[in-house]
Amino acid sequence: MEYWKWLEMVVLALIMLEGGWRTEGCLEEERLALFQLKPFFPSIDSRIDGSRLEYYLYPIEEKETSSDCCEWEKVECSSITGRVTHLFLNLTYIVTYDDLVYDDLVYSEYRRIGNNKYWYLNTSLFLPFEELQSLFLSGNSIVGFVDNQGLKRLSKLKNVEILDLSHHNYIGNNSSQLNDFRSLKSLRLQDCGLVGSIDMREFNSFINLKELHLGSNQIKSLGFSFYDKEPLWLNKLEVLGLSDNLLNSSVFSSLAPLSNLKSLHLSR
Ligand SMILES: *[C@@H]1O[C@H](CO)[C@@H](O)[C@H](O)[C@H]1NC(C)=O
Ligand SMILES: *[C@@H]1O[C@H](CO)[C@@H](O)[C@H](O)[C@H]1NC(C)=O
Ligand SMILES: *[C@@H]1O[C@H](CO)[C@@H](O)[C@H](O)[C@H]1NC(C)=O
Ligand SMILES: *[C@@H]1O[C@H](CO)[C@@H](O)[C@H](O)[C@H]1NC(C)=O
Ligand SMILES: *[C@@H]1O[C@H](CO)[C@@H](O)[C@H](O)[C@H]1NC(C)=O
Repeated sequence: MEYWKWLEMVVLALIMLEGGWRTEGCLEEERLALFQLKPFFPSIDSRIDGSRLEYYLYPIEEKETSSDCCEWEKVECSSITGRVTHLFLNLTYIVTYDDLVYDDLVYSEYRRIGNNKYWYLNTSLFLPFEELQSLFLSGNSIVGFVDNQGLKRLSKLKNVEILDLSHHNYIGNNSSQLNDFRSLKSLRLQDCGLVGSIDMREFNSFINLKELHLGSNQIKSLGFSFYDKEPLWLNKLEVLGLSDNLLNSSVFSSLAPLSNLKSLHLSR
């Protein structure tokens, strides 16, 4: 008798758990983690829509209050585990909706009217998203990371393959922050304040990197200053984007160590 009662309770609990999971959609801890991001990315619940360079901002309140965070505009979850896999936080650092003119918003325009308060990102805020694969952070005026931690702390997330820090994030002003992120396959650093001669050794800890986008900076030359016995990990790099920089033809010889390079973008 005791046994059947116990079994009934277990079955009931399982049904409740299952039902609860279905209505909730996303994990409570990840939902809370998203709310923790909101002070830093105030328009996390606004939709930015439009064609290539023209964005219209309008808030979508119902998404914010939706308990299923997987339905949020800027969040994508795994259909199997229900965990967050993609965070589209590009252009979400706009303080208030009222700060903006109800006009087309382009990146250059964004520089002028958008929030120009540079800030340091706390990468620990992303650690609850254990299955995160892509993190888009472009256009957010980020200049670095708190605690001098660089990207190192993010490397605890073993599945992150795409990191987009392009446009109006001046991470490049201190490239020593770009450290140790082994799972990464694609790193986007266009328009990130990279100036002058770039030592590709900065990227040597990205041992699985296949795509590196460094366009729209002020790079004059590339170099490799490897220690004698240090292997060149960037040997998986297939795509290198260098458009709109200040390079001349001497760049070709400097690319020789990249043995697996298949695609090079150099347009102006
Ligand atoms: C944000 O980035 C994703 C991935 O590149 C892109 O599909 C989306 O259009 C971007 N949104 C904005 C507003 O730039
Ligand atoms: C960064 O975020 C973590 C997790 O929310 C928090 O414990 C820590 O105090 C934050 N660090 C700073 C410098 O704000
Ligand atoms: C650059 O980053 C490193 C490591 O995070 C830090 O020690 C240094 O103070 C930073 N320099 C500047 C100018 O921000
Ligand atoms: C970063 O460097 C770029 C390019 O030199 C410069 O325009 C920008 O003002 C710098 N930003 C900060 C916050 O230092
Ligand atoms: C190419 O650029 C490098 C670095 O700025 C410079 O040292 C070199 O003289 C330039 N070569 C030519 C042919 O302009």
